[in-house]
Amino acid sequence: MKKKNKIEFYYIVDDILSLEEFQKLKKINHHGITRYDHSLRVSYYTYLITKKLHINYEAATRGALLHDFFFDEVDEYKEIFKLRRHPNFASLKASQYFSLSMIEQDIIKRHMFPITFTPPKYLESWIVDIVDDICAIFEKGYVTKRDLKAAFLFLFLFFLNYFR
Ligand SMILES: [Fe+2]
Ligand SMILES: [Fe+2]
Repeated sequence: MKKKNKIEFYYIVDDILSLEEFQKLKKINHHGITRYDHSLRVSYYTYLITKKLHINYEAATRGALLHDFFFDEVDEYKEIFKLRRHPNFASLKASQYFSLSMIEQDIIKRHMFPITFTPPKYLESWIVDIVDDICAIFEKGYVTKRDLKAAFLFLFLFFLNYFR
């Protein structure tokens, strides 16, 4: 992380990271790492991409950090329902502690599209959806770090082109 980016990133998410309930994600296994580390990674890459694109990077960064803020609420469901229902539980949990903007709510609720059926409404939400998928693939160990960088570069160039 570059120092300037790091300072701004932590400024945006400081209240979330210091919340005791959110800290409990450090004890939850998620794609072979902790859910806390996964969320932090998705949030930081989202921050870098959305800032470059001059869109609402604060909402995107916060929404990304909160996108998997759930615990054992889905344990009783089968795998496919876990995948479909956890965004709603994360949205409920996040709104207990923070007042969420429309973009933040959309990011959390729609981050599993197309497994959930309603597509994201905002570009910020699309980016989190894609970044989350790429991070999940990387974390599961299917691709190397170099592949991850190439995927992010592709994503970045795609969105730059989209806005020209
Ligand atoms: Fe998720
Ligand atoms: Fe995730």
